[in-house]
Order: sequence, then C-alpha cells, then structure tokens
Amino acid sequence: MEEDPNNNPGETQPKLHVEPPEAQSFVEKILTGNGVPAPNAAIVAACLVAADLRGVDTHGINRIPSYMARVRNGVLDATASPTVTPITPVVASVDGRNGFGFLAAEAGMREACAMARVYGLGMASVKHSNHFGMSAWLVQQALDAGMMSLVFTNSSPALPVFGGAEKLLGVSPIACGAPGGQEKPFILDMAPSVAARGKIYKAMRRGEKIPLDWALDAEGRPTDDPAAALQGVMLPMGGPKGSALAIMMDVFSGVLSGSAFAGGVTNPYDPSKPSDVGHFLVAIKPDLFMSLDDFRARMDFLYQRVVGSGKAAGVERIYFPGEIEQLTQEERRRTGIPYVQAEVDALNEEARKVGAPELVVKS
Ligand SMILES: NC(=O)c1ccc[n+]([C@@H]2O[C@H](COP(=O)([O-])OP(=O)(O)OC[C@H]3O[C@@H](n4cnc5c(N)ncnc54)[C@H](O)[C@@H]3O)[C@@H](O)[C@H]2O)c1
Repeated sequence: MEEDPNNNPGETQPKLHVEPPEAQSFVEKILTGNGVPAPNAAIVAACLVAADLRGVDTHGINRIPSYMARVRNGVLDATASPTVTPITPVVASVDGRNGFGFLAAEAGMREACAMARVYGLGMASVKHSNHFGMSAWLVQQALDAGMMSLVFTNSSPALPVFGGAEKLLGVSPIACGAPGGQEKPFILDMAPSVAARGKIYKAMRRGEKIPLDWALDAEGRPTDDPAAALQGVMLPMGGPKGSALAIMMDVFSGVLSGSAFAGGVTNPYDPSKPSDVGHFLVAIKPDLFMSLDDFRARMDFLYQRVVGSGKAAGVERIYFPGEIEQLTQEERRRTGIPYVQAEVDALNEEARKVGAPELVVKS
C-alpha cells in the first residue's frame, strides 16, 4: 500500500494497486456469475477497466455493486444483447433491450463506423439502454477504427435548468474525438456540470469533502459534504450554457431515439426501475476532404500549437483535451490501478455473492 500523489487533491487514503488484466478478469467473473453471457461480460469489463486506467475512477469497476443491484432487482436484463436495425445506408437504430448500456453503445458505434467506412458518415440512435459509464471509451472505439466521432447520451435528473431549483436535466456528458498523426488524438469528454456527479459519489465512498462550487444542498446552499450535495442539485457549468448543453444531450439522445427524456431517465444507483437511457453516436471518416496524411498532419499541427501556446502565470504545462487521461493510462498500465480498501471490500463482497475469487492486489 502506498500514497498515490497523482490522484485528486485531498485524496490521502492508502492505495491498493491492481494489474489491469486482473481487474478485467475479476469483473468478467462477477458479471458471468450474474448471468451476463461471456462475450458481453468481456465488453462491459473492458469499458469499466478503461475508465479506471484513464483515471476516470468515478466510472470504473467501482460501479459494479450498483449495476449488480440493478441486475438482482430485475430492472436491468443481464442476459440481453442489443439489436441493430438499419434505417438508411448511413443511419441505424439500436434497441438496448434494457441490457447494459456498454453493449448497446458498443454495437451502435461499431455499426456507425462500418457505415462511415463505406459512406463517409454513420449515425446510430440508441434507445432502451442503460448507463454506459465513461463516454471516452466510445471515442476510443471510433479512433481504433480510424474515425472521428460524436458521442452523446442523456442521463438521470441531477441539474436544474438555468434559473430552476429542481433536478430536471442529466449530467449528460458530451464527447467527441479525432485521430492525430504522431501526436495524441483529440478526445473531449466532459459533463455539462462543474463536476461529474460520480465525483460526489466517489468522495462519499472515500469519506472526503468536495469543493464548494460543485453543488447546492437541499436548501440551496453551497456545501462541501457529498451526502448533502446528493440531496440537493449539481451546478451546471457556465450557467445557461451548461444548462443548454444538457438539454442538447436530451434532444439528440432522448427525444430523437424514443427513449426516456425530460427527467424520465432513472438514476443508475436507483435499483427500483429500468433506466431507459438514450444515446446518439456518429462516426465520421477523417479523409473526406483531403488525404488521411494531410488530415493527420493538420491535427498534429493543431496539437503542437495548443500545447506550445504561451502559458498563463503559474501554469507549467498545457495539455490537449484527453491528454491527461492518456498519460494516466500509460502510468497505470505500468503501476497498476489504485483503489482504496473500502472499494476493494465492496467489490470482493460482489465476488463472494457469486462464488468468484477475490480481487488480487499487487504486493
Ligand atoms: N454516462 C453518464 O451518464 C455520465 C454522466 C456524467 C459523467 N460521465 C463521465 O464522467 C467523466 C468525467 O467528466 P468530467 O466532466 O468531470 O471530466 P473532466 O472535467 O475531468 O474533463 C473534461 C474534459 O476536459 C479535459 N481536461 C481536463 N483537465 C484538463 C486540463 N488541465 N487541460 C486540458 N484539458 C483538460 C479532459 O481531457 C476532458 O476531455 C467523463 O468520462 C464522462 O463521460 C458519464
């Protein structure tokens, strides 16, 4: 056990490191033990471990207990695989059939990339899905297929609309990406709130305080207590602009797809009813208007201009969107993924329930 200096400020708990392949097979066994077919379990586990590798700990394997509670309560179908229906040569509709959101979104992005390879553009609208965790894994899926992408989803009510006081909009992340050449690709993945709600759950899990500008408590006062924040509302970034971006996610993911919208999506931590999340996925071939080499060279030029830009006082280094997460990923592939004891205990409890082996922590 050691302190992890690279984690969020204020995180002082000792960390237990786990090798990524161990995290992957541990989660696969819990999933198959709960009735998830093995190929589907491999996809879900890979998405969760990808989040932990990129430092998006809020959307990693720690989500397993809450997902399994939904499976046990029968509000998420562990056995379901998505169906894909072509609508036009460049448009497909995916029905998640209330299975894992990771599966529906993966199938949608795979189809979008296949259409884009032929027609330059592919779009998948996904309905009756569930939480798909960190959007960046879908951007990465498109990058691995050589594609630019847009990745939208809606989510359960957590934010007020601008000027409102009730939770109505989701903290629904907006993500997009484009391949680079020699340099890092562009990967934007951002929630339209000051902070993702998962960061509040993580602080609560770890017994830590949160910054005062993240959320209001039930009485509308700024709070540093994660439990009080979860009783109140998250704050949108940039006032009306963050509120509008959250509405945009609902228009494209919820209204358009036929899934729940306008506050109708169920929170992934609420095991009482199906979530009915919607997603919107677009893949774009980057060499539509010039050669791929030219596109990649232009992306590299943009990267160099951005990270080489004159720095503000006190700034040591400028990063490209997604770069910090990629550096974290490179480091965690070497050192293992850090968890705290309480998280490992909760995961082992899930393993015990299905007779799977405990998580092996690096010595
Ligand atoms: N599925 C869901 O319903 C859901 C809901 C909310 C959030 N999430 C996920 O939570 C995660 C966290 O979201 P977030 O908004 O807190 O992310 P964040 O604020 O950590 O990062 C947002 C973006 O800013 C970039 N960035 C951050 N710091 C930077 C810096 N110093 N220099 C340059 N770029 C920088 C990141 O690379 C990223 O693209 C995301 O992966 C998101 O998909 C999922």
